[in-house]
Amino acid sequence: MSRNAQRSFYEFFAGGGMARLGLGDGWSCAFANDFDPVKSATYRANFADAEQHFCQGDVWKLEAGDLPGRADLAWASSPCQDFSLAGARAGLTGGRSSAFFGFWRLMEALGAEGRAPRTIVIENVSGLLTSGGDFTALCAALASQGYSFGALEIDAARFLPQSRPRVFVVATLAPVPSGLIGDSPFRTRLVREAQARLPADLADRWIWWRGAAPAARNSDLASLLEPDDAVTWHAPARTAALIALMAPLHRARLDALTASGQRAVGGLFRRMRVENGVRVQRAESRFDGVAGCLRTPRGGSSRQTLVVVDGGYVRTRLLSPREGARLMGLPESYWLPKAATSALHVIGDGVAVPAVRWLATNILQPLLDETPRVLAAE
Ligand SMILES: C[S@@+](CC[C@H](N)C(=O)[O-])C[C@H]1O[C@@H](n2cnc3c(N)ncnc32)[C@H](O)[C@@H]1O
Repeated sequence: MSRNAQRSFYEFFAGGGMARLGLGDGWSCAFANDFDPVKSATYRANFADAEQHFCQGDVWKLEAGDLPGRADLAWASSPCQDFSLAGARAGLTGGRSSAFFGFWRLMEALGAEGRAPRTIVIENVSGLLTSGGDFTALCAALASQGYSFGALEIDAARFLPQSRPRVFVVATLAPVPSGLIGDSPFRTRLVREAQARLPADLADRWIWWRGAAPAARNSDLASLLEPDDAVTWHAPARTAALIALMAPLHRARLDALTASGQRAVGGLFRRMRVENGVRVQRAESRFDGVAGCLRTPRGGSSRQTLVVVDGGYVRTRLLSPREGARLMGLPESYWLPKAATSALHVIGDGVAVPAVRWLATNILQPLLDETPRVLAAE
């Protein structure tokens, strides 16, 4: 594709620019925004052209005039805390998630100027699909601006050894070619149920996006880790303290792996659980070759621990930022902040790069290539 034919996009809530990385070649960023200083520094460090289009600041302070031209795509990974199953479920109108409406009023203003983006992708945690009336409210907002839409729930584990289910709502102004309508591996139960709850006028605008099953994943968690002799391990007492936090089932599985003498690599998170009416801290592990969902560290307990069982011994250590970056599909050349907590914050908030690539290849690019480009006055 020639440079002139590149598809243009705005990236809202850009963080470290992972949506941009997923879109890849053939796409040109016309505008990106985030208000977080560390994320903004990370974005600038990774994209040499950031000075031309990256704007650091609150989305609520932006005007339509800050957005150049008419974009083929507006991508918005709005803050997910309020949708997260662990969050307060305050929803679209609550706290941080209301940043969504800071973005949405810009889409409305662009529409009023005849510059509505041809497509919009809204990414969030899967809790959006079950969060009260929020999913319906989101669909209603899209419908009010003339968009048709459909959602896919994509787990990064289809591409990478990290469990990271996320919902992607893909909306378009143009009629959808029949070849893009059908089944996909990401029409999950939550998506079907959320669609079934929509009122008829919104259900009429629904698109079941078609997409091919991704190739089988060949990597597992162990394959993305640094060599054992190149990392810092926890002292045995710290490992013992973590093991002591395991619930009986997790402990029994660890004991069996240890007794086998084989090597096994797992991920471990500390979580608060209610047992017999009492809140207790538990260490929960998984040894299925997939890391638990990376989270933003707000204290030591939200950072993923690795458990390596080998030759009858158990060792533990923290996942490094570079290993976390690999679990998001970021290239080795991706610049990360020096402080581990900052780096993990950028990573844990990001969107998995291959999930975006799948959407671009299966839906966005064919859609934009096959539908007429209706140019509005710019
Ligand atoms: C879920 S993260 C998206 C990260 C991004 N997709 C990536 O891959 O790195 C949400 C982002 O929204 C930003 N954000 C939250 N509220 C904002 C606001 N009011 N204005 C601008 N950015 C905001 C946060 O700093 C965070 O980077």
